[in-house]
Amino acid sequence: MPVAWRRLWCDPVADRPDSTVPARAFRSLLVTGGAGFIGSAYVRDVLARRDGTRITVLDKLTYAGNEANLAPVRADDELAERFRFIRGDIADPDVVRPLVAEADAVVNFAAESHVDRSILDPEAFLVTGVIGVHVLLEACRTAPAAPRFLQVSTDEVYGSVDEGHAREDAPLAPRSPYAAAKAAGELLVHSYVITHGIDAVITRGSNTYGPYHHPEKLIPLFITNAIDDRPLPLYGDGLQRRDWLYVGDHAAGVDYVLRHGASGDTYNLPGGTEQTNVDTVRMLLERLGKPWSLVRRVEDRPGHDRRYAMDGSKIAALGWSPRMSFGQGLAETVDWYLANEAWWRATRSGDWDAYYERQYGPRLRSAG
Ligand code: NAD
Ligand code: DAU
Repeated sequence: MPVAWRRLWCDPVADRPDSTVPARAFRSLLVTGGAGFIGSAYVRDVLARRDGTRITVLDKLTYAGNEANLAPVRADDELAERFRFIRGDIADPDVVRPLVAEADAVVNFAAESHVDRSILDPEAFLVTGVIGVHVLLEACRTAPAAPRFLQVSTDEVYGSVDEGHAREDAPLAPRSPYAAAKAAGELLVHSYVITHGIDAVITRGSNTYGPYHHPEKLIPLFITNAIDDRPLPLYGDGLQRRDWLYVGDHAAGVDYVLRHGASGDTYNLPGGTEQTNVDTVRMLLERLGKPWSLVRRVEDRPGHDRRYAMDGSKIAALGWSPRMSFGQGLAETVDWYLANEAWWRATRSGDWDAYYERQYGPRLRSAG
């Protein structure tokens, strides 16, 4: 593997000497949704960092799952030897049960992850986010080795946070079908901890960005459209606020909670970089050397959450904080998309054109 790749992906998962809780070691991980954006970063990082760890990825390969995200692992003989990929659905108990039985930890990234698609077609969000999580929990409950379970959740479960920063004990107030499915998944995890005594932890990451991000989401959509001089559809006034977390930091936070988190606990993983969408778009256009005139103000997302903001003191007290600044992370992300056109152009296949027309066609035409 090229040295530069190892450097980019190894640093974030480095052990933290300042931890307040001794680290647990896991030798055999089942990573569900490991062919997606954050899951694949986690797999690349952990395999490269932890010599003795073996990883099985179980992924359905929906439109968002992409085996090319794991190509750097397959290209490295030493990493590939400790890696196995299985295509399958977390909602299928016959597939899940034997894989969970041989793991000492299960890290669940699998989900339908795009809010706009949950407004158009919510069903798959519920099947994967509720039934799928239930199947994984049942398999953990009945597995002889009682594996630790980590549910990757989101700041969207708090709903729009108009003031201050949401702590982990704030009420759940999801406002989109995506966020409601994620909140339901969390509640199931709690029920299994309390009723069945399984060992489980939950992370709530903030808006994540970086390489290998499917270009349906704001940052990669705007970068790739701008490269092609296509319009950039900005929802509403563009003054919604998001807290951006670099993907390597998100992967590292998940790994940290897996190894240090207390069973039954939930940990916010904020990026600490809150800003408006307008400012984010300005920054990426500046890096690309493209004009603001590409931006089209279009009809807003229904139920659009105005602001996400989380309190990070619990995870900081455990010994973890994000490392990447937004300026540097965004610049590296823009440069990655410029250097990896073949990757992102290939993601615009399958139902992409039909989705794009349904989501943006009428909006862009009425914006003129
Ligand atoms: P993604 O859409 O890029 O990847 C999801 C992966 O899950 C894909 O590989 C897909 O094929 C797989 N998958 C979907 N349904 C499945 C099923 N039923 N069985 C097996 N595999 C299935 O998503 P992402 O952005 O990498 O997000 C990963 C997780 O992190 C999700 O749970 C998401 O809710 C959460 N999260 C994402 C963000 C973000 O900003 N992207 C922030 C916080 C939390
Ligand atoms: O906060 C964590 C969440 O972040 C994750 O749980 C989700 O999986 C992830 O998709 C993301 O959700 P958002 O809805 O915040 O991300 P998205 O990239 O879709 O939108 C970011 C902001 O940009 C939001 O305010 C909506 C706006 N937007 C988005 C798109 C796709 C636009 O203005 N135009 C667009 O075309």
